[in-house]
Amino acid sequence: MLTKFKETAKFLSEKTKFEPEIGIILGSGLGGLADRIENAQAIAYEDIPNFPVSTVEGHSGKLIFGLLGGRKVVAMQGRFHYYEGYGMKEVTFPVRVLHFLGVKSIIVSNAAGGLNPKFRVGNLMLINDHINYFPENPLHGKNFKELGVRFPDMSKVYDPEYIKAAEKIAADNNIPIQKGIYIGSTGPTLETPAEYRLFRTFGADATGMSTVPEVIVAHHQGMRVFGMSVITNVSEPEDPEIETTHDEVQNVAGDAEPRMTTLITELIKVM
Ligand code: HPA
Repeated sequence: MLTKFKETAKFLSEKTKFEPEIGIILGSGLGGLADRIENAQAIAYEDIPNFPVSTVEGHSGKLIFGLLGGRKVVAMQGRFHYYEGYGMKEVTFPVRVLHFLGVKSIIVSNAAGGLNPKFRVGNLMLINDHINYFPENPLHGKNFKELGVRFPDMSKVYDPEYIKAAEKIAADNNIPIQKGIYIGSTGPTLETPAEYRLFRTFGADATGMSTVPEVIVAHHQGMRVFGMSVITNVSEPEDPEIETTHDEVQNVAGDAEPRMTTLITELIKVM
């Protein structure tokens, strides 16, 4: 695997002649931030050696290198989800490659279901902790010292300085935000009412089908992490007749995108 990470990073470095400092993973319906990247060089996943190929609707699947907020970034437009059938090593492969490209900080975004009864559809939630409810851990198997330690400390995964900076940016720009714990599970089913209650009992504030594997791997290799969820639906809707559909998730995420874009673009300047 190590050889593959390095081989892919070498390919990308040679092709782009660019050394990104910050990685961004764009979640469902949030790919539009990529349009703000200046001097952009985009490479489709299918043209990158060793990369898995994304299949889900709304995830177009490319790496975009360029400048955002004056910083050198590489954005993943489209990610690999466990529910698509990929293993944890495939889901997290791009994050390993980012490490070998020299990325030191990562912004991970997603669309999530709100569990906290105070949350409203369209809210942005800064992730301050997570629960790995996937049946696997992406660090399962042989550990390579070159990547990180065997037993990573997980007490401060979401960088408190980034959270503080994001809170200030949100306040300065009148962007309402929430803060909370993200629980990641496999999907592709959305939760039953009983599962929503279970996750709430666990102490989680939002639930989704991504992020946790990528964040574990990013943290393992020493990256500073900032995570953000767009709450696209809530577990206790005011109108219980409203069902959560993939279209709705995409639409709400699309509406929230300008706020997320402002927050991320401003945050990047101070990362
Ligand atoms: N559950 C899981 N994943 C999701 C949800 C949800 O309610 N909304 C958006 N992604």
